[in-house]
Amino acid sequence: MHKRNVIRALTAVTLAMGLSASWAQDNTFKIGLLLPLTGPFASTGKQLETAARLYMAQNGDTVAGKKVQLIVKDDTGVPDVSKRLAQELVVNDKVQVLAGFGLTPLAMTVAPIATQSKTPMVVMAAATSAITEASPYIVRTSFTVPQVVTILADWAIKNNIHKVVTLVTDYAPGVDSETYFKQRFVAQGGQVIETLRVPLRSPDFAPFLQKVRDAKPDALFTFVPAGVGVSLMKQFSERGLDKVGIRVIAEGSVTDDDILGTMGDVALGVVTAHHYSAAHNSAVNKRFVEAFGKASGGLRPNFMAVGAYDGMHVIYEAAKATQGAGKDALLQGMKGQSFESPRGPVSIDAQTRDVVHNIYVRKVEKNGGQLWNTEVQTFTSVKDPAKAAK
Ligand code: PHB
Repeated sequence: MHKRNVIRALTAVTLAMGLSASWAQDNTFKIGLLLPLTGPFASTGKQLETAARLYMAQNGDTVAGKKVQLIVKDDTGVPDVSKRLAQELVVNDKVQVLAGFGLTPLAMTVAPIATQSKTPMVVMAAATSAITEASPYIVRTSFTVPQVVTILADWAIKNNIHKVVTLVTDYAPGVDSETYFKQRFVAQGGQVIETLRVPLRSPDFAPFLQKVRDAKPDALFTFVPAGVGVSLMKQFSERGLDKVGIRVIAEGSVTDDDILGTMGDVALGVVTAHHYSAAHNSAVNKRFVEAFGKASGGLRPNFMAVGAYDGMHVIYEAAKATQGAGKDALLQGMKGQSFESPRGPVSIDAQTRDVVHNIYVRKVEKNGGQLWNTEVQTFTSVKDPAKAAK
Protein backbone atom coordinates (compact mmCIF):
# COMPACT_ATOMS: atom_id res chain seq x y z
CA MET A 1 0.00 0.00 0.00
CA HIS A 2 1.15 3.51 -0.79
CA LYS A 3 2.31 5.33 2.34
CA ARG A 4 -0.44 7.94 2.06
CA ASN A 5 -3.08 5.22 1.77
CA VAL A 6 -1.67 3.49 4.81
CA ILE A 7 -2.05 6.70 6.77
CA ARG A 8 -5.59 7.14 5.44
CA ALA A 9 -6.51 3.58 6.37
CA LEU A 10 -5.02 4.00 9.82
CA THR A 11 -6.85 7.27 10.29
CA ALA A 12 -10.11 5.62 9.28
CA VAL A 13 -9.53 2.76 11.74
CA THR A 14 -8.61 5.16 14.54
CA LEU A 15 -11.66 7.28 13.82
CA ALA A 16 -13.90 4.25 13.78
CA MET A 17 -12.44 3.06 17.06
CA GLY A 18 -12.94 6.47 18.59
CA LEU A 19 -16.48 6.63 17.32
CA SER A 20 -17.34 3.19 18.56
CA ALA A 21 -15.86 4.02 21.95
CA SER A 22 -17.96 7.14 22.19
CA TRP A 23 -20.97 5.27 20.82
CA ALA A 24 -20.47 2.67 23.55
CA GLN A 25 -20.11 5.47 26.09
CA ASP A 26 -23.32 7.13 24.96
CA ASN A 27 -25.18 3.90 24.64
CA THR A 28 -24.40 2.27 27.93
CA PHE A 29 -25.99 3.12 31.20
CA LYS A 30 -23.52 2.14 33.90
CA ILE A 31 -24.46 1.35 37.48
CA GLY A 32 -21.60 0.93 39.94
CA LEU A 33 -22.73 -1.45 42.68
CA LEU A 34 -20.55 -1.37 45.80
CA LEU A 35 -21.14 -4.30 48.13
CA PRO A 36 -19.49 -6.21 50.96
CA LEU A 37 -19.01 -9.51 49.10
CA THR A 38 -16.30 -10.83 51.42
CA GLY A 39 -15.74 -10.34 55.15
CA PRO A 40 -18.24 -10.46 58.01
CA PHE A 41 -21.07 -8.84 56.02
CA ALA A 42 -20.77 -10.98 52.88
CA SER A 43 -24.31 -12.34 53.34
CA THR A 44 -25.62 -8.78 52.87
CA GLY A 45 -23.60 -8.37 49.66
CA LYS A 46 -24.92 -11.65 48.32
CA GLN A 47 -28.54 -10.72 48.99
CA LEU A 48 -28.12 -7.33 47.33
CA GLU A 49 -26.28 -8.63 44.28
CA THR A 50 -28.68 -11.51 43.69
CA ALA A 51 -31.67 -9.15 43.85
CA ALA A 52 -30.11 -6.51 41.57
CA ARG A 53 -29.32 -9.18 38.97
CA LEU A 54 -32.79 -10.67 39.34
CA TYR A 55 -34.34 -7.28 38.61
CA MET A 56 -32.28 -7.01 35.43
CA ALA A 57 -33.12 -10.56 34.37
CA GLN A 58 -36.82 -9.79 34.79
CA ASN A 59 -36.81 -6.29 33.28
CA GLY A 60 -34.21 -6.51 30.55
CA ASP A 61 -30.79 -4.94 30.23
CA THR A 62 -31.85 -2.06 28.01
CA VAL A 63 -33.29 1.14 29.34
CA ALA A 64 -34.11 4.30 27.35
CA GLY A 65 -32.34 2.68 24.38
CA LYS A 66 -29.13 2.16 26.36
CA LYS A 67 -27.52 -1.05 27.45
CA VAL A 68 -27.43 -1.34 31.22
CA GLN A 69 -24.07 -2.39 32.57
CA LEU A 70 -23.91 -3.42 36.22
CA ILE A 71 -20.37 -3.05 37.55
CA VAL A 72 -20.16 -4.95 40.83
CA LYS A 73 -17.26 -4.23 43.21
CA ASP A 74 -16.40 -5.82 46.56
CA ASP A 75 -15.84 -3.12 49.18
CA THR A 76 -15.14 -5.84 51.83
CA GLY A 77 -17.16 -3.75 54.30
CA VAL A 78 -14.25 -1.31 54.77
CA PRO A 79 -14.90 2.44 54.23
CA ASP A 80 -11.48 3.23 52.70
CA VAL A 81 -12.01 0.51 50.11
CA SER A 82 -15.49 1.86 49.30
CA LYS A 83 -14.08 5.33 48.83
CA ARG A 84 -11.32 4.22 46.46
CA LEU A 85 -13.69 2.03 44.44
CA ALA A 86 -16.30 4.80 44.21
CA GLN A 87 -13.66 7.20 42.92
CA GLU A 88 -12.58 4.69 40.27
CA LEU A 89 -16.17 4.03 39.25
CA VAL A 90 -16.86 7.73 38.80
CA VAL A 91 -13.57 8.78 37.19
CA ASN A 92 -12.57 5.74 35.13
CA ASP A 93 -15.83 3.93 34.41
CA LYS A 94 -17.95 7.10 34.31
CA VAL A 95 -20.90 5.40 35.97
CA GLN A 96 -24.25 7.19 35.89
CA VAL A 97 -25.23 5.85 39.32
CA LEU A 98 -23.44 4.67 42.47
CA ALA A 99 -25.47 2.08 44.35
CA GLY A 100 -25.35 -0.53 47.14
CA PHE A 101 -23.87 0.53 50.53
CA GLY A 102 -24.21 -2.39 52.92
CA LEU A 103 -23.27 -0.43 56.06
CA THR A 104 -23.70 3.18 57.17
CA PRO A 105 -19.96 4.06 57.31
CA LEU A 106 -19.59 2.92 53.68
CA ALA A 107 -22.38 5.24 52.55
CA MET A 108 -21.06 8.15 54.60
CA THR A 109 -17.57 7.95 53.14
CA VAL A 110 -18.82 7.90 49.54
CA ALA A 111 -21.38 10.74 49.97
CA PRO A 112 -18.89 13.58 49.18
CA ILE A 113 -17.86 11.81 45.95
CA ALA A 114 -21.51 11.72 44.85
CA THR A 115 -21.85 15.43 45.62
CA GLN A 116 -18.65 16.51 43.87
CA SER A 117 -19.32 14.46 40.74
CA LYS A 118 -23.12 15.08 40.76
CA THR A 119 -23.65 11.32 40.58
CA PRO A 120 -26.95 10.03 42.00
CA MET A 121 -26.22 7.57 44.82
CA VAL A 122 -28.85 4.97 45.67
CA VAL A 123 -28.53 3.63 49.21
CA MET A 124 -30.05 0.15 49.08
CA ALA A 125 -29.06 -1.16 52.53
CA ALA A 126 -27.70 1.28 55.12
CA ALA A 127 -30.32 2.69 57.51
CA THR A 128 -28.99 5.45 59.79
CA SER A 129 -31.35 8.40 59.54
CA ALA A 130 -28.69 11.02 58.74
CA ILE A 131 -27.38 9.29 55.58
CA THR A 132 -29.70 11.13 53.20
CA GLU A 133 -28.46 14.43 54.62
CA ALA A 134 -24.85 13.61 53.79
CA SER A 135 -25.38 14.45 50.10
CA PRO A 136 -28.20 16.00 48.03
CA TYR A 137 -27.48 13.23 45.48
CA ILE A 138 -28.49 10.42 47.85
CA VAL A 139 -31.77 8.57 47.39
CA ARG A 140 -32.62 5.75 49.79
CA THR A 141 -34.58 2.55 49.07
CA SER A 142 -33.72 0.62 52.24
CA PHE A 143 -35.34 2.01 55.41
CA THR A 144 -34.53 4.24 58.35
CA VAL A 145 -33.90 2.92 61.84
CA PRO A 146 -36.12 5.55 63.58
CA GLN A 147 -39.01 4.51 61.29
CA VAL A 148 -39.06 1.06 62.83
CA VAL A 149 -37.89 1.43 66.43
CA THR A 150 -40.40 4.17 67.31
CA ILE A 151 -43.23 1.85 66.24
CA LEU A 152 -41.73 -0.94 68.32
CA ALA A 153 -41.55 1.35 71.37
CA ASP A 154 -45.29 2.10 71.01
CA TRP A 155 -46.02 -1.61 70.73
CA ALA A 156 -43.96 -2.41 73.85
CA ILE A 157 -45.83 0.14 75.99
CA LYS A 158 -49.18 -1.27 74.85
CA ASN A 159 -48.04 -4.82 75.54
CA ASN A 160 -47.12 -4.62 79.17
CA ILE A 161 -43.40 -3.96 78.77
CA HIS A 162 -42.31 -1.25 81.19
CA LYS A 163 -38.66 -1.96 82.01
CA VAL A 164 -36.16 -2.51 79.24
CA VAL A 165 -32.42 -3.00 78.78
CA THR A 166 -31.12 -1.95 75.35
CA LEU A 167 -28.28 -3.81 73.63
CA VAL A 168 -27.10 -2.46 70.27
CA THR A 169 -24.11 -2.68 67.97
CA ASP A 170 -21.81 0.24 68.67
CA TYR A 171 -22.00 2.25 65.45
CA ALA A 172 -24.38 4.73 63.85
CA PRO A 173 -27.51 2.58 63.24
CA GLY A 174 -27.12 1.04 66.70
CA VAL A 175 -26.92 4.49 68.25
CA ASP A 176 -30.02 5.54 66.24
CA SER A 177 -31.82 2.41 67.48
CA GLU A 178 -30.97 3.14 71.10
CA THR A 179 -31.74 6.86 70.88
CA TYR A 180 -35.06 6.73 69.07
CA PHE A 181 -36.38 3.67 70.90
CA LYS A 182 -35.50 5.16 74.27
CA GLN A 183 -36.94 8.60 73.50
CA ARG A 184 -40.30 7.21 72.43
CA PHE A 185 -40.48 4.57 75.17
CA VAL A 186 -39.57 6.92 78.01
CA ALA A 187 -41.98 9.63 76.73
CA GLN A 188 -44.80 7.13 77.38
CA GLY A 189 -43.68 6.19 80.85
CA GLY A 190 -41.34 3.31 79.99
CA GLN A 191 -38.04 2.85 81.79
CA VAL A 192 -34.70 2.04 80.18
CA ILE A 193 -32.65 0.65 83.05
CA GLU A 194 -29.42 0.04 81.17
CA THR A 195 -27.99 0.84 77.72
CA LEU A 196 -25.35 -1.58 76.42
CA ARG A 197 -23.30 -1.36 73.21
CA VAL A 198 -21.31 -4.22 71.64
CA PRO A 199 -18.48 -3.78 69.12
CA LEU A 200 -19.23 -4.04 65.39
CA ARG A 201 -16.29 -6.35 64.67
CA SER A 202 -16.30 -9.87 66.18
CA PRO A 203 -18.84 -9.18 68.92
CA ASP A 204 -18.92 -11.44 71.98
CA PHE A 205 -22.41 -11.09 73.42
CA ALA A 206 -21.87 -13.26 76.51
CA PRO A 207 -20.73 -10.60 79.03
CA PHE A 208 -23.44 -8.20 77.85
CA LEU A 209 -26.15 -10.83 78.10
CA GLN A 210 -25.02 -11.60 81.63
CA LYS A 211 -25.63 -7.94 82.48
CA VAL A 212 -29.07 -8.13 80.89
CA ARG A 213 -29.86 -11.19 82.99
CA ASP A 214 -28.75 -9.49 86.18
CA ALA A 215 -30.80 -6.35 85.43
CA LYS A 216 -34.04 -8.44 85.19
CA PRO A 217 -35.90 -6.25 82.67
CA ASP A 218 -39.32 -7.13 81.25
CA ALA A 219 -37.66 -7.20 77.85
CA LEU A 220 -34.39 -6.84 76.00
CA PHE A 221 -34.56 -4.36 73.15
CA THR A 222 -31.84 -5.06 70.61
CA PHE A 223 -30.35 -4.11 67.26
CA VAL A 224 -27.56 -5.94 65.43
CA PRO A 225 -26.91 -5.65 61.68
CA ALA A 226 -28.24 -8.27 59.25
CA GLY A 227 -26.49 -11.63 59.57
CA VAL A 228 -25.42 -11.18 63.21
CA GLY A 229 -28.70 -12.11 64.93
CA VAL A 230 -27.96 -15.86 64.93
CA SER A 231 -25.02 -15.60 67.31
CA LEU A 232 -26.88 -13.11 69.52
CA MET A 233 -29.90 -15.40 69.88
CA LYS A 234 -27.74 -18.50 70.32
CA GLN A 235 -25.93 -16.89 73.25
CA PHE A 236 -29.23 -15.58 74.60
CA SER A 237 -30.48 -19.16 74.87
CA GLU A 238 -27.12 -20.56 76.11
CA ARG A 239 -27.21 -18.06 78.99
CA GLY A 240 -30.77 -19.20 79.75
CA LEU A 241 -32.29 -15.73 79.37
CA ASP A 242 -35.31 -17.25 77.65
CA LYS A 243 -35.89 -19.45 80.73
CA VAL A 244 -36.09 -16.52 83.15
CA GLY A 245 -38.86 -14.81 81.21
CA ILE A 246 -36.95 -11.95 79.54
CA ARG A 247 -38.77 -11.17 76.31
CA VAL A 248 -36.94 -10.04 73.17
CA ILE A 249 -38.09 -7.10 71.10
CA ALA A 250 -35.88 -6.01 68.23
CA GLU A 251 -35.22 -3.91 65.20
CA GLY A 252 -36.11 -6.31 62.37
CA SER A 253 -32.52 -6.86 61.19
CA VAL A 254 -32.09 -9.22 64.16
CA THR A 255 -34.47 -11.83 62.71
CA ASP A 256 -33.63 -11.15 59.07
CA ASP A 257 -35.11 -13.71 56.68
CA ASP A 258 -31.73 -14.84 55.39
CA ILE A 259 -30.76 -16.31 58.76
CA LEU A 260 -34.09 -16.90 60.52
CA GLY A 261 -34.18 -20.51 59.33
CA THR A 262 -30.98 -21.31 61.24
CA MET A 263 -31.88 -19.44 64.43
CA GLY A 264 -33.78 -22.26 66.09
CA ASP A 265 -36.75 -22.18 68.41
CA VAL A 266 -35.20 -19.57 70.71
CA ALA A 267 -36.45 -17.04 68.13
CA LEU A 268 -40.10 -18.10 68.55
CA GLY A 269 -42.14 -15.20 69.87
CA VAL A 270 -39.52 -12.51 69.22
CA VAL A 271 -41.36 -9.32 68.26
CA THR A 272 -39.79 -6.95 65.75
CA ALA A 273 -40.77 -3.98 63.63
CA HIS A 274 -39.55 -3.70 60.05
CA HIS A 275 -40.54 -2.88 56.50
CA TYR A 276 -40.13 -6.30 54.89
CA SER A 277 -40.94 -9.90 55.70
CA ALA A 278 -40.56 -12.73 53.18
CA ALA A 279 -43.95 -13.82 54.55
CA HIS A 280 -45.62 -10.59 53.36
CA ASN A 281 -48.92 -11.64 51.86
CA SER A 282 -49.12 -10.16 48.36
CA ALA A 283 -48.94 -11.50 44.83
CA VAL A 284 -45.93 -9.27 44.06
CA ASN A 285 -44.05 -10.66 47.05
CA LYS A 286 -44.92 -14.30 46.34
CA ARG A 287 -43.51 -13.95 42.84
CA PHE A 288 -40.42 -12.20 44.21
CA VAL A 289 -39.70 -14.82 46.90
CA GLU A 290 -40.09 -17.63 44.38
CA ALA A 291 -37.89 -16.00 41.72
CA PHE A 292 -35.24 -15.07 44.29
CA GLY A 293 -35.19 -18.66 45.58
CA LYS A 294 -34.60 -19.94 42.05
CA ALA A 295 -31.94 -17.33 41.29
CA SER A 296 -30.00 -17.98 44.52
CA GLY A 297 -30.15 -21.75 44.76
CA GLY A 298 -32.73 -21.73 47.52
CA LEU A 299 -32.11 -18.62 49.66
CA ARG A 300 -34.94 -16.65 51.17
CA PRO A 301 -34.75 -12.94 50.29
CA ASN A 302 -34.33 -10.59 53.23
CA PHE A 303 -34.90 -6.84 53.50
CA MET A 304 -31.48 -6.20 51.94
CA ALA A 305 -32.60 -8.01 48.79
CA VAL A 306 -35.75 -5.90 48.62
CA GLY A 307 -33.73 -2.69 49.06
CA ALA A 308 -31.63 -3.63 46.02
CA TYR A 309 -34.58 -4.82 43.93
CA ASP A 310 -36.48 -1.59 44.60
CA GLY A 311 -33.32 0.47 44.12
CA MET A 312 -32.92 -0.99 40.63
CA HIS A 313 -36.56 -0.16 39.95
CA VAL A 314 -36.02 3.47 40.98
CA ILE A 315 -32.92 3.67 38.75
CA TYR A 316 -34.64 2.08 35.74
CA GLU A 317 -37.74 4.27 36.01
CA ALA A 318 -35.68 7.45 36.41
CA ALA A 319 -33.52 6.52 33.42
CA LYS A 320 -36.63 5.86 31.31
CA ALA A 321 -38.32 9.10 32.33
CA THR A 322 -35.21 11.16 31.55
CA GLN A 323 -34.18 9.32 28.37
CA GLY A 324 -30.96 8.12 29.91
CA ALA A 325 -29.71 11.59 30.86
CA GLY A 326 -27.45 11.40 33.90
CA LYS A 327 -26.56 13.61 36.86
CA ASP A 328 -29.20 16.11 38.02
CA ALA A 329 -31.87 15.03 35.54
CA LEU A 330 -31.52 11.43 36.66
CA LEU A 331 -31.72 12.49 40.30
CA GLN A 332 -34.91 14.47 39.58
CA GLY A 333 -36.36 11.35 37.95
CA MET A 334 -35.82 9.41 41.17
CA LYS A 335 -37.54 11.89 43.45
CA GLY A 336 -41.25 11.38 44.08
CA GLN A 337 -41.52 7.93 42.49
CA SER A 338 -44.12 5.59 43.88
CA PHE A 339 -44.69 1.93 43.11
CA GLU A 340 -45.65 -1.43 44.55
CA SER A 341 -42.70 -3.35 45.96
CA PRO A 342 -42.55 -6.87 47.42
CA ARG A 343 -42.65 -5.06 50.79
CA GLY A 344 -45.91 -3.20 49.92
CA PRO A 345 -46.40 0.36 48.61
CA VAL A 346 -43.24 2.47 48.46
CA SER A 347 -42.52 6.07 47.56
CA ILE A 348 -39.46 8.29 47.52
CA ASP A 349 -40.15 11.55 49.35
CA ALA A 350 -39.30 14.30 46.86
CA GLN A 351 -38.03 16.63 49.60
CA THR A 352 -36.01 14.30 51.80
CA ARG A 353 -35.14 11.69 49.10
CA ASP A 354 -35.88 9.11 51.76
CA VAL A 355 -38.11 6.07 51.54
CA VAL A 356 -41.73 6.17 52.73
CA HIS A 357 -43.34 2.77 53.24
CA ASN A 358 -45.40 0.58 55.57
CA ILE A 359 -43.85 -0.59 58.81
CA TYR A 360 -45.06 -3.90 60.16
CA VAL A 361 -45.00 -5.29 63.68
CA ARG A 362 -44.07 -8.95 63.29
CA LYS A 363 -43.82 -11.99 65.52
CA VAL A 364 -41.59 -14.99 64.82
CA GLU A 365 -43.81 -18.04 64.32
CA LYS A 366 -43.44 -21.53 62.98
CA ASN A 367 -45.35 -22.27 59.83
CA GLY A 368 -44.96 -25.44 57.79
CA GLY A 369 -41.98 -26.42 59.99
CA GLN A 370 -40.12 -23.15 59.25
CA LEU A 371 -39.67 -19.90 61.14
CA TRP A 372 -41.21 -16.75 59.64
CA ASN A 373 -41.66 -13.11 60.61
CA THR A 374 -45.47 -13.08 60.63
CA GLU A 375 -46.87 -9.59 60.15
CA VAL A 376 -49.40 -8.83 62.88
CA GLN A 377 -49.94 -5.08 62.53
CA THR A 378 -49.42 -2.55 59.72
CA PHE A 379 -48.60 1.15 59.94
CA THR A 380 -49.04 2.74 56.53
CA SER A 381 -46.88 5.32 54.72
CA VAL A 382 -44.40 5.90 57.51
CA LYS A 383 -41.91 8.75 57.00
CA ASP A 384 -38.61 8.99 58.84
CA PRO A 385 -39.66 10.52 62.18
CA ALA A 386 -36.15 11.91 62.69
CA LYS A 387 -36.71 14.20 59.70
CA ALA A 388 -40.35 14.96 60.38
CA ALA A 389 -39.25 16.41 63.73
CA LYS A 390 -36.86 18.91 62.12
C1 PHB B 1 -26.31 0.04 58.56
O1 PHB B 1 -25.07 -0.04 58.69
O2 PHB B 1 -26.87 1.11 58.33
C2 PHB B 1 -27.12 -1.19 58.72
C3 PHB B 1 -26.58 -2.41 58.37
C4 PHB B 1 -27.31 -3.57 58.55
C5 PHB B 1 -28.60 -3.49 59.05
C6 PHB B 1 -29.16 -2.27 59.39
C7 PHB B 1 -28.41 -1.11 59.23
O3 PHB B 1 -29.30 -4.60 59.24
